Amino acid sequence: MKIFLDTANLDELRQGVSLGVVDGVTTNPTLVAREKKPFREHILDICEILKDGIVNAEVVSTDTEGILREAHELASWHPNIVVKVPMIPDGVRALSVLAKEGIRVNVTLVFSAPQALLVAKAGAYIVSPFLGRLDDIGEDGLILLRDIMQIYRAYNFQTQVLAASLRHPIHIIEAAKMGAHIGTMPFKVFEQLFNHPLTDKGLAGFLKDWGKAHEMLGDIMPSAVGRKAGQ
Ligand code: E4P
Repeated sequence: MKIFLDTANLDELRQGVSLGVVDGVTTNPTLVAREKKPFREHILDICEILKDGIVNAEVVSTDTEGILREAHELASWHPNIVVKVPMIPDGVRALSVLAKEGIRVNVTLVFSAPQALLVAKAGAYIVSPFLGRLDDIGEDGLILLRDIMQIYRAYNFQTQVLAASLRHPIHIIEAAKMGAHIGTMPFKVFEQLFNHPLTDKGLAGFLKDWGKAHEMLGDIMPSAVGRKAGQ
């Protein structure tokens, strides 16, 4: 499963990318607005940090003509940009045109299987079901993800499924078990993926024991022994 960070914050992106397991980023108008910088400049800064990674940038128009205009502009900024378009009829109409032109589109704000079926038929590069926001209203986002995976496999749709609005590691593991192609998560959730109390406890134990040996024998790393012997 590809891991995307759901943030427009450059520090978070730098930290994430330095760990070597981040494949892309999803921004949205809320996340970009939070950073208080001109849109194009900010997206290009993100592209620079992500290097070969995918950068999702979203349109804000809600009519087909406006969506097409913005999508063409966003796609012209950098080859790694995927254009996010909302799941509305005008968005799907624009998607049909963009897909034929070879522009990669991520359809966002997807909350039902019929919506996901339509965007795959229209040629979306990525579909983004929002799991956490469904959980927030008492539904189960993972059920939606399972339905989408089943439908896409049944017809061999090439659209990649991006599990979005992920709120905790269980979301990510369940999405991975279902074979979701991508999971996007806030930096805080990404950090949680690294943690386990037994890892911390185990490491503390190893270092303590190593320290004891060090007290008895001096530095026991071969490189240090070599240095002492003047080699
Ligand atoms: C995805 O592309 C969206 O930016 C994101 O996952 C929304 O998540 P939220 O529900 O945490 O805002």
